[in-house]
Parts: sequence; C-alpha cells; structure tokens
Amino acid sequence: MTTAIWVPGGSGQVGTELARACPPGNVLVAPGSHEVDITDPQATAAALGRFAAAARELGLPPVVVNAAAYTDADAAETDERRAFRVNALGAGQLAEACREHDVPLIHLSTDYVFDGTAGEPYEASAPPNPLNAYGRTKLAGERAVLGSGADAWVVRTAWVYSTHSVNFVRTMARLEREREEVRVVDDQTGSPTSAADLASSLLSLAGRVAGGAGPAERLLHYVNTGRASWYEFARAVFEHLGADPRRVRPCTSAEFGRPAPRPAYSVLGVGAWTASGLPAPRPWPAALPEVTAALRAERAGEDRAAQRA
Ligand SMILES: NC(=O)c1ccc[n+]([C@@H]2O[C@H](COP(=O)([O-])OP(=O)(O)OC[C@H]3O[C@@H](n4cnc5c(N)ncnc54)[C@H](OP(=O)(O)O)[C@@H]3O)[C@@H](O)[C@H]2O)c1
Repeated sequence: MTTAIWVPGGSGQVGTELARACPPGNVLVAPGSHEVDITDPQATAAALGRFAAAARELGLPPVVVNAAAYTDADAAETDERRAFRVNALGAGQLAEACREHDVPLIHLSTDYVFDGTAGEPYEASAPPNPLNAYGRTKLAGERAVLGSGADAWVVRTAWVYSTHSVNFVRTMARLEREREEVRVVDDQTGSPTSAADLASSLLSLAGRVAGGAGPAERLLHYVNTGRASWYEFARAVFEHLGADPRRVRPCTSAEFGRPAPRPAYSVLGVGAWTASGLPAPRPWPAALPEVTAALRAERAGEDRAAQRA
C-alpha cells in the first residue's frame, strides 16, 4: 500500500537506504538529527504532527520508521547516560508522539540485546541479556516503545553494512588498500546484513502496517540469513574485492581489546518475520557482492581520477 514514511535518523546508514529504496508513489521524509532530535519530545511531537497532517491531506497513511540511535557501542561504555537518552528515553518519547498522533511506528533494535551464549539462532522470543551499555540502552528502548501504547513494532537487526557510512565492509575495503595484512576477530559469529535488503524489507513492513495489516507479532528479527564470524566475513569481502583473502588473519576479541564486550554468538532467527508473511531474507553471501561491486566501481573511478591528476 502507498504510504508516507517519516524516518528520524534519516542521515544514518539505514535512513539513507530507506530513502533510496522508497518506491515511486510513496512519500519518504528522512530528517537528520539536526532537523529532528528525538531527545526533544515537544519538537519531535510537533514535527511528527505536521508530517502526519500533510500525509493525510495527500491521502497517504503515515508511518514512522525510527532509524535514530546512538550506535557507537564502544563509546557507550563510558557515555551510557547519553546513549540511554537517545536509545531508551528518545525512542520512548517518539513512541508516545506516535500514539498521540495515531501514527504506527516501526522501531529498530539490535542483536546486542543477547548475551551470545546460545548455540542456535536467537528467535525474537528468546530472553535478552545484554553484555554492554549499548545493548542495555537498546533493550530499554524496545521496552519503552512496546509499552508506550503506540501501534508499534520492534525489528532487531545486526551487522549492517552498505556502500556508504561507517561500516565493517567499508572499513575492510579501506584496510585492504592500506595494509598488507588485516587482523579480524574470529570468535564472534553473527548475521551480516545488507542495509539495502533491510530497507526494502522495512518498507514492505511499513506498507503492511499502513494498510492495517501489521503482523500480530510485535517483536521481529530481520537479517540476511546464514552466519559468519567477522573473520569469515572479512575474507568474503576481500574475495569480492578481488584481493587475496589470505591477507586476512584471525585474532581473538581479547587480542583486539575493544571497550564494549560483544556477544560471541548473535545470529538472529527470522522465524517470526517469515511466519508473518513478510518477504524472506536472502542469504548474506548473495547480498554482499552488490555492495562490493559498487565499492569496486567507486575505487576504479578514484583510480582513474588519480591517474588524470
Ligand atoms: N549498524 C548496525 O550494524 C546495526 C546493527 C543492529 C542494529 N542497528 C540499529 O539500526 C538502527 C539504524 O542504525 P544505523 O546503522 O543507520 O546507525 P547510524 O548510521 O549510526 O545512524 C543513526 C542515526 O541516528 C541519528 N541520531 C543520533 N542521535 C539522534 C537523536 N537524538 N535524534 C535524532 N537522530 C539521532 C544519527 O545522527 P548523527 O549522525 O547526526 O548523530 C544518525 O543519523 C539503529 O536503531 C541501530 O541501533 C544497527
């Protein structure tokens, strides 16, 4: 169903892909944090009210997809209050604004709500137990959204990458150019997920929700299927970039030493998503080449420009 979608956090990785993926006939407005700050409840509610009124005037049902978040897991370890303000309080206040204006909400969350002790994919019904500050604030946000009384869905995703923004695939592409050898942790396994796939799937969900046919399950997982360690994923990135994957060397999380502890295993199961009749995600190895092909083309353009200079 055609709809009008409002995306706070619109200049981030997922927000950008949502804007790219929005099909003709729909309206998508993706304000950045300088335009809509979800930690300012009055301004957010007022902006949402204006958007919803304009959408209804156009005959389009409004839906909010919240892509706004404090996403730096390592920084959150020493800045949990700020992460909480955005990820928990801000998300909850946005949900209240959605309730006030009778606009359905799709809110994004993370695999880092799990502790990583499972041996099989975490379905949406699995009990969360975050290991780090970011995960704690995101879990609090999920609860605030689902407890707000808004017509809301929470979609957890994981290990998101794209052709733009800061993400693992782009970091590997940069390091491939800068270093002979790249060390990557091999003791964390998860679900690499294309932001483009996620965005088009969220838009399918938004269409369902706008048509009053949102899934009965309010907590869903969406990831590309399959699993990989960061090391395995990095090797695949190198291969698709035409580089020798043996230049990627495994290491442990302890050796890498990042401030935020990460779950050793955070593969997400998409059972609730597919049981809701939403389009089944494809395996991650099928999605990755689209992004690496774009990065290769970008590199070729940069190389040509450098030769001309
Ligand atoms: N990336 C991943 O691997 C991943 C994995 C699991 C779940 N997720 C979830 O997916 C969602 C989108 O993530 P992403 O990858 O697109 O993150 P991102 O690239 O970091 O984008 C987050 C966006 O939120 C904005 N933002 C921060 N504070 C805000 C505030 N107070 N008000 C309004 N906007 C604010 C940021 O703006 P500024 O840049 O101006 O601060 C940025 O545009 C988040 O809920 C995240 O938790 C992401």
